[in-house]
Amino acid sequence: MTKEYKRYLVTSALPYANGPVHIGHLAGVYIPSDIYTRYLRLRGADVISVCGSDEHGVPITIKARKEGVTPQQIVDRYHAIIKSSFERLGIAFDIYSRTSSPTHRQTASDFFRKLYDEGKFIEKSSMQYYDQEAQTFLADRYIVGSCPHCQNDRAYGDQCEKCGSTLSPDELIEPHSAVSGSVPVKRETKHWYLPLDQYETFLREWILDGHKEWKTNVYGQCKSWLDMGLQPRAVSRDLDWGIPVPVEGAEGKVLYVWFDAPIGYISATKDLTPDWQKYWCSDDTKMVHFIGKDNIVFHCIVFPSMLKAHGGYVLPDNVPANEFLNLEGDKISTSRNWAVWLHEYLDDFPGKEDVLRYVLCANAPETKDNDFTWRDFQSRNNSELVAVLGNFVNRALVLTKKYYDGEVPACGSLTEYDRQTLDELSQIRPSLERNIETYHFREALKDAMAYARIGNKYLADTEPWKLIKSDPERVKTILNIALQITADLSIAIEPFMPFTAAKIVKMLDINKLTWNDLGSASLVEAGHRIGEPELLFEKIEDDAIQRQLDKLEAARQANAAAEAAANVTEQKEAVSFDDFQRMDIRVSTVLAAEKVAKTKKLLKLTIDTGIDQRTIVSGIAEFYTPEELVGRQILVLVNLEPRQIKGITSNGMILMAQDALGRLVLLQPGDSVNAGATVG
Ligand code: 2FM
Ligand code: ZN
Repeated sequence: MTKEYKRYLVTSALPYANGPVHIGHLAGVYIPSDIYTRYLRLRGADVISVCGSDEHGVPITIKARKEGVTPQQIVDRYHAIIKSSFERLGIAFDIYSRTSSPTHRQTASDFFRKLYDEGKFIEKSSMQYYDQEAQTFLADRYIVGSCPHCQNDRAYGDQCEKCGSTLSPDELIEPHSAVSGSVPVKRETKHWYLPLDQYETFLREWILDGHKEWKTNVYGQCKSWLDMGLQPRAVSRDLDWGIPVPVEGAEGKVLYVWFDAPIGYISATKDLTPDWQKYWCSDDTKMVHFIGKDNIVFHCIVFPSMLKAHGGYVLPDNVPANEFLNLEGDKISTSRNWAVWLHEYLDDFPGKEDVLRYVLCANAPETKDNDFTWRDFQSRNNSELVAVLGNFVNRALVLTKKYYDGEVPACGSLTEYDRQTLDELSQIRPSLERNIETYHFREALKDAMAYARIGNKYLADTEPWKLIKSDPERVKTILNIALQITADLSIAIEPFMPFTAAKIVKMLDINKLTWNDLGSASLVEAGHRIGEPELLFEKIEDDAIQRQLDKLEAARQANAAAEAAANVTEQKEAVSFDDFQRMDIRVSTVLAAEKVAKTKKLLKLTIDTGIDQRTIVSGIAEFYTPEELVGRQILVLVNLEPRQIKGITSNGMILMAQDALGRLVLLQPGDSVNAGATVG
């Protein structure tokens, strides 16, 4: 039996304020939560949507240290960027708060204190890494060493970003401190642990028996955590950035970021309304956590256990976590700048907020990781938004303007085809509602777009532009129906594309409708005069897409260069000056070049070494065309023993540099010199 709820509390994962928001965050969390909330608001439900910046945690302190600024400066910067970019995209939180707010500090502190006073924590001392030089305990992220699985020598104490393994600091080979570079020692430290094992029975009953309807990825992750058996989890850290542990003798210790962050949902609600308890402390509140898959354990296991331990708070009814969105085939990464940043998108594509909302919802990683590509973005805009939605609305409005000077014509008698169309339309709403309410937003968007698709087909089939002379009465009915569908669209697409919905309302010059109006007859009355039609969407041209692809290519190259700088191969063993002198390197000129038949990589070059003309076979065909080479001055090791390559005698070696991507680059003299000039 489904529970009767009186109100909704929608939470969206608090983004870390150590970087801006990117499309992965949007597709995974914020677009779905906004669709859900807008839908409920349109239905007139009592709903609040809360979010805010997650301003604690080690990555923020690492970033601050790197930039030589304070953690406060970092979070102030990104909180402002994130907040304003959400607003610009129309993500309509009721409040966007931050975990550095005084309300939050107090709330999180009180939460800890209550559990502490009631003996709900275990106190435990353990040996942890300590940096004697910097005089600080090292959080897992601050310990760097070689990964035992892939030998990456820059793995962190909690994770290797190269092979993706989860690590503990003890597994690292040759660990050293990321703070001072020194080798850390083990030192005893005391922390407070939430004994998750004591909540296993509750969690099993609540999730595994009580929430079989949760998404398979979420339910499955919970089940596997529970089946592995839960361990007590430390809720404090030795760190100087965060909310101090509010007990005696806890100097230098703060609440673990994952203890305080979800409490941020409560404090944000407190900052929003004095009536916050109505949402948090009533059984008939439906709380829904929108998150990405990396947050599942914290929202389904840890936070519910905290809430249970505290008592008096509602538990989530659902946690519709999404999988990840990739970008052009690669994992989105903040540190590698492999992302489409929301604030940059908004600057690059002004007025196209809904295009991004549409594409990210249509392609949301609801059941598996998905890929965002700029070509798909362009094609969805051009062939779905422009050609279907925009085209339909524009035709309906422009024809009304043209034939009736904008006055809505009356609906006459209906044909069989009209009835069929209306019948088809009437089936959309139940499906749309079911899909939104069960968090199937991609399908829901298809439903909303069905109004436009059916409307478009209706106009194409009835061809009012052909009938206007021969059967003007019929055209009135056709356009009346088309305008009703346009009004339906303004309701159905509002949760997904609020800017476009508002434009349609303005062009129809009607009052904003509510969800209950969807599918009603006569949403626009005959005789009403509509406003000025304008285009809802415009085509996105190739050059705009190319600029974005170029930006990504620049990021790829910068990453490769950074990686190359970090991975320069070690110096070879020393050679004597005499050994060096034995090598005869000459400036030479390429006289001719041709591909070696049946090979991809080889070019046969004829060169003038100044001593003679000779043939060299070189593996540079992937990087240079024959035409690019002829006439160039290059450097050649001329006294290398001749070798047979593909049946050709190669007499010498062309000197080249190899970059991080494996690309070969020719070396040549800075100024032109005569062929045969010696190098050394
Ligand atoms: O993964 C993240 O980005 C976290 N900052 C999410 C926190 S969600 C909540 F618990 F606050
Ligand atoms: Zn590794």
